[in-house]
Amino acid sequence: MRCYTYLEEQNADSLTLQERDVPRPGAGQVLVRLKAAALNYRDLLIITGRYPGMTSKGLVPLSDGAGEVVEVGAGVDRFKSGDRVTGCFFETWLSGTMLPAHYNAAIGGSTPGVLSEYRVFEAEALVATPAHLSDEEAATLPCAALTAWNALYEGRQLVPGETVLVLGTGGVSMFALQFAKASGAQVIATSSSDAKLAKAKALGADHLINYRNHPDWEQKVLEVTGGVGVDHVVEVGGPGTLQRSIAAARHAGAVHLIGVLTGGEINPLAVLFRTTLLRGVFVGSRDMFEAMNKLITARQIKPVIDRVFDFTDARAALAHLEGASHFGKVVIRIG
Ligand SMILES: NC(=O)c1ccc[n+]([C@@H]2O[C@H](COP(=O)([O-])OP(=O)(O)OC[C@H]3O[C@@H](n4cnc5c(N)ncnc54)[C@H](OP(=O)(O)O)[C@@H]3O)[C@@H](O)[C@H]2O)c1
Repeated sequence: MRCYTYLEEQNADSLTLQERDVPRPGAGQVLVRLKAAALNYRDLLIITGRYPGMTSKGLVPLSDGAGEVVEVGAGVDRFKSGDRVTGCFFETWLSGTMLPAHYNAAIGGSTPGVLSEYRVFEAEALVATPAHLSDEEAATLPCAALTAWNALYEGRQLVPGETVLVLGTGGVSMFALQFAKASGAQVIATSSSDAKLAKAKALGADHLINYRNHPDWEQKVLEVTGGVGVDHVVEVGGPGTLQRSIAAARHAGAVHLIGVLTGGEINPLAVLFRTTLLRGVFVGSRDMFEAMNKLITARQIKPVIDRVFDFTDARAALAHLEGASHFGKVVIRIG
């Protein structure tokens, strides 16, 4: 089988195709023929040495993959040959709250990734692919979609009629927009690009703010919400946007801390004075993934894919993500 790996540390150009033997599943495991893999900002963090505790040399990259079961090991009754499946980001976080040990089983970082024609998964760490999704669409779910789901439904749950602010038009934010609209919420979307804002509007965004033209975008959010602020912020920007996100949330509103796109410092006093609920979100568990897939299926939600690259163009796909011209997800077709 063909499989990608980085030959050198922190060198994206060293991403190379290799021939390896197709692995066999052991007890409790499943061999999956991968059909598609999706990229995340995390993959750029790993290759540039900015992801704590993770190295790139020798790594098979990418966490998010979907495909078809071709063989099951002893004792597996969760899936059978021919089933369409999608992998979980954390192979051991099946339910409940996250524990430190789960970090050591994060695909494409601490364990081998999915940029490979075949991979053995623990059967428990796979979910059934929603029938209305292609493998390319399903591959976008394990990290970006589940993070958006966890933010909006697994902490302080989004209630119909509430207002959600999404920052930028990357993978996490566009899933949050789609989930929020599917739940009857109002959505305020920001972007550096008017063209991308037009696409966000087509997806259902109610209010649009160009954060490049309006560096004090939190003031625009307050204007739009009659001075009150939003109920939820899907905070993908990190330290450089967090202070404004806290100001854009209503008193006792929820700021879901997800991203690290920017650097900076914040004054935590604002959290206290505004009694903000600041909640860290780290992807999600297998059970959360299955709960999310119920909404995706019930509302026939289709992930937003910016571009699909061929398997042989993996380096170009990473460069495309790094260029940040994308809207939604970047995917690699395998095989
Ligand atoms: N905690 C977790 O579990 C978790 C899970 C997934 C992702 N993340 C993190 O969340 C962040 C987003 O991930 P992603 O995969 O969705 O990234 P992505 O698809 O690469 O999206 C990047 C987009 O973010 C927007 N952006 C950049 N700087 C911004 C700023 N200063 N203000 C507002 N928007 C800005 C841009 O949108 P426009 O071009 O529209 O301006 C850019 O295209 C990353 O830091 C990633 O590491 C965390």
